[in-house]
Order: sequence, then structure tokens, then C-alpha cells
Amino acid sequence: MKAGILGTGHYVPEKVLTNFDMEKIVDTNDEWIRTRTGIEERRIAADQEETSDLALEAAKVSLEEAGVKGEELDLILVATVTPDQSFPTVSCKLQEALGATNAAAMDVSAACAGFMYGVITAKQFIETGAYKHILIVGAEKLSKITDWEDRNTCVLFGDGAGAAVMGPVSEDRGVLSFELGADGSGGPHLAQTGDFIHMNGREVFKFAVRQMPESSVYVAEKAGYAKEDVDYLIPHQANIRIMDAARQRLGISEDKMAVNVNKYGNTSAASIPIALSEGVKNGKIKDDDLIVLVGFGGGLTWGAVALKWGK
Ligand code: UT7
Repeated sequence: MKAGILGTGHYVPEKVLTNFDMEKIVDTNDEWIRTRTGIEERRIAADQEETSDLALEAAKVSLEEAGVKGEELDLILVATVTPDQSFPTVSCKLQEALGATNAAAMDVSAACAGFMYGVITAKQFIETGAYKHILIVGAEKLSKITDWEDRNTCVLFGDGAGAAVMGPVSEDRGVLSFELGADGSGGPHLAQTGDFIHMNGREVFKFAVRQMPESSVYVAEKAGYAKEDVDYLIPHQANIRIMDAARQRLGISEDKMAVNVNKYGNTSAASIPIALSEGVKNGKIKDDDLIVLVGFGGGLTWGAVALKWGK
């Protein structure tokens, strides 16, 4: 049995904060942010809008697209580092809101690589035949752990949610290969200490420009393809320079990579599923395309999958 993606969805809050707005908050400028990161604007959730609210909107769209009802879900996995509270989990809140009365639910904590950890966990349950329909959501309200006085970090992050429903697909489609990894020794480079995110940007950058290209090539080749055969690369949207490093190592053209870091900034666990959902909706992703998803983040953690699109 092969596990694949049956439907996708995404949601971003209405409020837009541009680089020019950031200039009024900290000592920064549009040119610095754009050239160093590719970010032009980001979305910020309203005070009363919680991570579970963002997650729910994305989840509903993905279930609709998949043609799967809440009560048909066997498991809900929510990847987030910004849950509404530590418990009840965001996944349990979704379980109730979606009427997913038959589903187990847990949050997955692997920072920006969380969605990848969720997809690979779901794949195991589906391929063993234990579960049929699994909802995976990446959702973040990073604005609540952002230090709005620290220009090194506050210009980078945004809020949003993306979702995918996974289930059995035909033998020649679905997840073909994967890689998951962690290096706890790099933990201090990107951490929530106290109330806020702290980051050694240069160290994370060095790790990411090595890991993202390596993992992308690994999963493409492990799936039995040449790296240039990748039809669409969906990298974690942290920094356009890191994303381009992965794309260039695969040897594919710019139009074959999902980019939304300009519009949303870095939305951590939400960035890959948002880009995936946008790719489906804007027609970039078609049946039988070879898709690579690749992410990295705090932990340090990383994860990648190669999959053939379609049911
Ligand atoms: O999801 C994973 C999360 N994190 C990442 O992926 C981040 C990975 N790292 C990066 O993306 C980059 O390292 C950054 C975008 C964070 C920084 O870019 P950089 O090219 O590595 O810049 P830098 O750290 O070398 O800083 C250059 C200068 C510094 O000034 P000095 O010390 O050279 O005088 C910073 O103080 O830029 C300064 N700077 C800023 N200037 C204007 C830092 N933040 C800002 C800012 N506006 N917002």
C-alpha cells in the first residue's frame, strides 16, 4: 500500500505587515530585508486569533479537497511550536471542531521541520494498513513569541497554517522516499529562551545551506530518479538564498521551485504545507509530477520526502 496526499489547504491571517511597516518598529530597511532574505511582507494573526483557529481554516479546505469527512479521519497530527497552550493540544481542538470523533490526535514538535515529521509519521500508519485517513497540519502564530525589539529576528517571521490529508493511493504514486534527521548539538543556535525566539542566524544559515541541498538530492535519488527529474521543489520558506542553494544543487530552473517567503516570511511548520497547497491551487503541481518537500529548523531538525503526485 502506498501513502499519498489526497487534499491540501492553507490559511493566512488578513493583517499584512510590510517591510516598510517594519522600518517603523525596529532599525531596519526594506532593502536589507529583501536582499538578505527575499521577504517583502508577512501576515500577523489578530490578538484573539489562535494557532488552532488558523489550523482549523486550513484543515477544512484540505478535507473538502480530499473529499474526506471529519468522522472518516483516523489520526490528526498538528506540527507547531506555538500551540494555544501546552494542553489541550491544537490537534485535540481540531478533533472536536472537525467532528473527527473517530480520530486520535497529537501535536508534533519538530520546529520548522514539523510538517515533514508529520508526513513521515502518517506514511507509516497508512502503509501498514493501521489507519486510512490522516490529517497533518502545520500551524504557527510566531508573532506571539517574536521579540519585536530584536531586528535580527522580528523581520523574519509570520503567521499561517497549511494542511494535507493523507491516505492510500495507487501503487505508482505517493511517497517514494524520505529522510528525517536531528542534531541536538546545534540546539542553542535556534531556540525559544524565555518568551522569545533567539537565533544565531549565521550558524543556522550554514547548517541550512548544507542540509537542504543534501536532503533534496538524497530523496530524489533514493526514489530512483536523477536529481534534475524533480518537477517541483517545495523548500521550507526561511530565506530565498537557502532555498536557491537547494534548487541549484538539484539543477532545476527557478519556475520549478515554490516561493512564498516574499509574501508570508518564515511561518515555521506552516511554510511547506502552505506552499504545497498554493502549488495545487495555482496549477503548478500536476498528476505524476515528482515533488520534493524539504525542511529544516530548530532542534536542529530536518526532513525531506520525494513523492509522485496524484491519487
Ligand atoms: O526556520 C529556520 C529559521 N532561521 C533561518 O533560516 C535563518 C538562517 N539565517 C539567515 O537567514 C541569515 O543569517 C539572516 C537573514 C538571519 C541574516 O543574514 P546574514 O547575511 O547572515 O547577515 P548577518 O547575520 O551576517 O548580519 C549582517 C549585518 C549585521 O551587522 P554587523 O554586525 O555586520 O554590523 C546585523 O547586525 O546586518 C545587521 N542586521 C540588520 N540590519 C538591518 C541584522 N538584522 C538586521 C535588520 N535590518 N533587520
